[in-house]
Formats: sequence, structure tokens, C-alpha cells
Amino acid sequence: MPGPDGDRRLLVLYGSQTGYAKDTAQRIARQGWRRHFVVQVQAMDQADRAAVFAATCPVIFVCSTTGQGDEPDNMRRFWRFLLRKSIPHDALGNVAFAVFGLGDSSYQKFNFAAKRLFRRLTQLGAQPIVDRGDGDDQHYLGVDGALDPWLAGLWAELLSRFPLPRPIIPDSVAPDPSFDVEFAAGSLNDSNAQDAPDPDGHPALLVAADRLTAAEHFQDVRCFRFELEAPGPAPLWGPGDCAVLRPANQAQDVSAFLAAMGWADNADAPLRVAARNPVGLPERIPGVTTLGWLFTYYFDITAVPRRSFFEMLYYFSANDDEKERLREFSATEGQDELHTYCMRPRRTIMEVLDDLPHSRVPVGYIFDVFPEIAERSFSISSAAEVTPSLVELTVAIVGYKTLMHKPRVGLCTRWLANMPLGQRVHLRFARGTMQLPNDPATPVIMVGPGTGIAAFMSFIRQRRSDGARSNYLFFGCRGRETDFLHQRHLEEWVDDGSLSLFCAFSRDQDHKIYVQQRIREHGDLVWSLIGEQGAAVYVSGNANRMPDDVRQAFTDVVREHSGGSDESAAAYILAMTKAGRYQEECWQ
Ligand code: 2AM
Repeated sequence: MPGPDGDRRLLVLYGSQTGYAKDTAQRIARQGWRRHFVVQVQAMDQADRAAVFAATCPVIFVCSTTGQGDEPDNMRRFWRFLLRKSIPHDALGNVAFAVFGLGDSSYQKFNFAAKRLFRRLTQLGAQPIVDRGDGDDQHYLGVDGALDPWLAGLWAELLSRFPLPRPIIPDSVAPDPSFDVEFAAGSLNDSNAQDAPDPDGHPALLVAADRLTAAEHFQDVRCFRFELEAPGPAPLWGPGDCAVLRPANQAQDVSAFLAAMGWADNADAPLRVAARNPVGLPERIPGVTTLGWLFTYYFDITAVPRRSFFEMLYYFSANDDEKERLREFSATEGQDELHTYCMRPRRTIMEVLDDLPHSRVPVGYIFDVFPEIAERSFSISSAAEVTPSLVELTVAIVGYKTLMHKPRVGLCTRWLANMPLGQRVHLRFARGTMQLPNDPATPVIMVGPGTGIAAFMSFIRQRRSDGARSNYLFFGCRGRETDFLHQRHLEEWVDDGSLSLFCAFSRDQDHKIYVQQRIREHGDLVWSLIGEQGAAVYVSGNANRMPDDVRQAFTDVVREHSGGSDESAAAYILAMTKAGRYQEECWQ
């Protein structure tokens, strides 16, 4: 709609895995709005590529880096498209752009997604408005430490190109809500099921949830089994792939929250929701819904709120002290304090709202204030070609104590842990990063301490069914009796000769024994598999130091057996990595 500011358009595109980059994109959009830009915010994969290529307005990219330096899921298609060789080298010649990356400089591949994106856009002729911004979790103010100065530079540059037609809209004025949300007359129709429908999901029923660790063991690791209602003729996932789940909030949390917000009486009243922006309503939200549904299935009330939450809440506070605190938490200078108050103790949205009893969000703004529940992915332990309708997950139930000594549980794993048998969920499938060799004759060495074994269960199941017997697993856990995950299956496969198993029980003796020690002990075998039989190596598990320690163990084995130097051995493993013969999938 060409309004008075019709030529002041900005496109903000994000690639976000956990929601932080999306939140940043939305903050940038609000700042643009204050400067009288007409801003559109989209995930890169949602964007109309032709429109981006023909963009007559500046495009601001915000993206994080995930995994081993990878692009977030919701920018992968866009990124693959950008890499096409068929794109002419000056295809983006008319596009002015900026890139801000979110990352963590303690990782080697710090902000790789943003760096690659910036380079590729420049290669295609696009004109950078300002230098790339590199947000860093290690900064004492977090990612915002670099964001604020970067944005100041960006706005200065943009305003010199698009001078302000009117004064900046001051921070004291609330932006317009991005959705129309109002209570509706009448009653709900059937489309508003109690279930959380997911248009892309495969319905499946929970049929088993067995604990894999001893009852007294500190960690609760479970094997969840879902039975797909319609597995279909072709396998829905491959070995190493992930199941993607969207959890829901716990009923008792939802009622406590709705009561605290003063919405308990309206929780089941029909609520009409319509998007004001062109991107439209997320498909899984029924057009007529309820606050009860939204705060069960859509909004995350257990998330640690981000800065923009405080920025928005500020407008709606009816108490001077609370308003002042919210203003501080929204300001650049207040980020250290916000970190201490909120991020470090992992205070949740519910707890923050308890702390600020006079700051309440109008129903019309819920979409601007509360974050969406994020999807979580888990490596699948079953093999679709063997059991097409069975999706098995090996999941550690997340539980820890915060600095405030409050017990915390992960939203998704608690949702799984409390799920009654027989409940229906919607599963999606996503490509994992590890791929089995095409030829079943290639030996496979798997290193998976703890829940790192999850994907290897599907590897072994698939390989057994392919008749491949060269399967070597290095598994590590604390003790044989406490957390030897999937022990029964593994021993059965050892007995029938389809698996060679090497266990490192770290705490069954006085000194620690880890998988890397077992790799060194079996150096002759490992070398003959790698050096002579062309084996592929896979490493999976909780990041920390394990992947580097394991890589070092393989490097040592190569050095000892090939008679070369440390450098040549490291180069050997690096060459294996480049050739896809040494793959890692690690997480925090
Ligand atoms: P620990 O907890 O006794 O130190 C699964 O978590 C297993 O991985 C545990 O036995 C754990 O041992 C072990 N582990 C911890 N750090 C490791 C590392 N850097 N390399 C390999 N294994 C490790």
C-alpha cells in the first residue's frame, strides 16, 4: 500500500535457529518504523526471491550460525539458491544490503553463516551499506554489545540516503501491534482442536517411554517410541536424520500464567487473530482461537525473555518503579544489569512477570511481546527401512538448578517426560548432518559417548539390514550399571557378530576412562580400518572437549602408524573430514 512513506521501504530478512536472530530482526524493524520506514520482516526462506533480487529497497540480513558453522534451518533454501552457479555474477547489482551475524567467538566457526552470506552477496554485485556486524555471545553485553553500535552506523547511513520526513517517533510511543487480536462473539468451531495441529507434521502416537538409566542415576535418559499413523510407501527419514517436535507448555504453568495476567476468566473465550503484515498468520494458528490455546501451544512462557520483551513491556507498565526498571533493561547501558537479572539466573517470562505485577500486556500485543515456542530436533535411533512406522528417540531429560537454586527443566524434554502413552503428536523429519557411506562394505567407526549414541542406533540398525558387519562403536558413559544406554540391543548385536563394541566406563574405577583412551588402545585396529580399509569415522555427542579430544586420539593413531609428524597426521584427518570420511555431530 503506497502511503506517504511508500518509497521508504526496508526489507529485514533473518535466518534464526533459536529465535534470537528473529528477535533481533524484529527489533531492527521497530527501529526502522520509528524512522518512518515501511518495514517487512521475514525468514529468508519465506522471502520471495525474485523480489529480493529486484529489491529497490535496502535489505538487512540478520543470521546466526548453528551446528558446525552451519546456516540456520529457515535460511537453508535461500542460501542454497544464492550459491547456484547459474546466477549471473552481477545479479544483485542494484541491491543495497547489510549483514549482522549472531555467534559465539569461542567457536572456531564464529559467525561463519553471516560471513559467507556477506561474501556471496558482495560477489553477486550487491552493495554493502555498512561493514558486516559480528554479534558475539562472549561480549559482556552479549550479542547486543556489537549490535547497538552497528545499528547506529546503519541508521546514520540509511538516513543520509533517506532523510527523515518527520522527527523520529520517540521511544515513549508504543509501536502499532503487528496483529489484530480481539475477542469475538459466538463460539468456537471444530477447527480449534485441543490438539496442536501442525500442517507439515506426521501424526504419531507415543507407545513407549522407557528409562534407559538406572532409577538412582542422576540423569534420566529415556527411549521414546512413536508409532506413525501413516508411514507411507517411501521411508520418511534416513539413518542419522532427526525428528522435529514442537512442545507445549504444561497445563499448570498455563493456568498460573493466565491467572497472573488477569486472563483466567477469558481463557476459553473465542479470540479472533488476523495478521496486519503481509506475511500473514502462521499456518498452525486457527483464525479463531483462545488465549488458552495460544499460551499452551504457541507462546513460550518458560523462555528466558530477551531484551525486546522488556522494551515492549515498558509501554504497558502502570507503575513508575517498574517502568523505570523496564526502561533500564531496554537501554544499551542496562544490558549488563539485564544479563545479571535475567540471562544468568535463567529467569523465565513467568517469573519476570511475577516480579513486575503492574506490568501487563494488552491482549492486542501478545504477538509482539511473547516469543513463539521453538521446535526441537532429536536424532532418530530407529531405521525407517527396518521399522517404517517406528520413530525411536534417545533423549536426556534436561534438568538443572539455576543460580537461584530453582530446579529447571527443559520445556521440550519435560513435555516428553510427562506425556501419557497414547498421546498424539506431530512429527516432522529433518536431514541430519551425518550420512552413512553409500557402500555398505565400507567399515564404519562410531564414537558416541552418552546420548551421542542416539543416531548410531539408526546407523547400526540400517547397516545390519544391509548385511554390513564392519560396525565399530566406541561408547562412553559413567558406569556399566548406571547409564549403559541401549545395553541389551548392543550386546545382542555383539553376540550375533554385527557389532564390535568398545566401552569406556568413566567412573567404574579410580581414574577416568574415556572413549579416546579406547581408541588409542585399539590403535592397530583403528589404523587398519582407516588406513587400509577406507573406514568412515563418525563422532557424536555433547560438545565440550570431547570432539577435540577424540580427534586428537585419531590423529595420534594415524601419526604412530603412518610414521609421519603431528602435522601430517592432523592433515590426514583434515583430508578425511573434507572427503566426508570424518563427520561430527555435536551439541551443547
Ligand atoms: P564423566 O562425566 O565421568 O567425566 C557421557 O557423558 C560420558 O562422556 C561420561 O562417561 C563422561 O565422563 C564422558 N566424558 C566427559 N568429558 C569427556 C571428554 N572430554 N571426552 C570423552 N568423554 C568425556
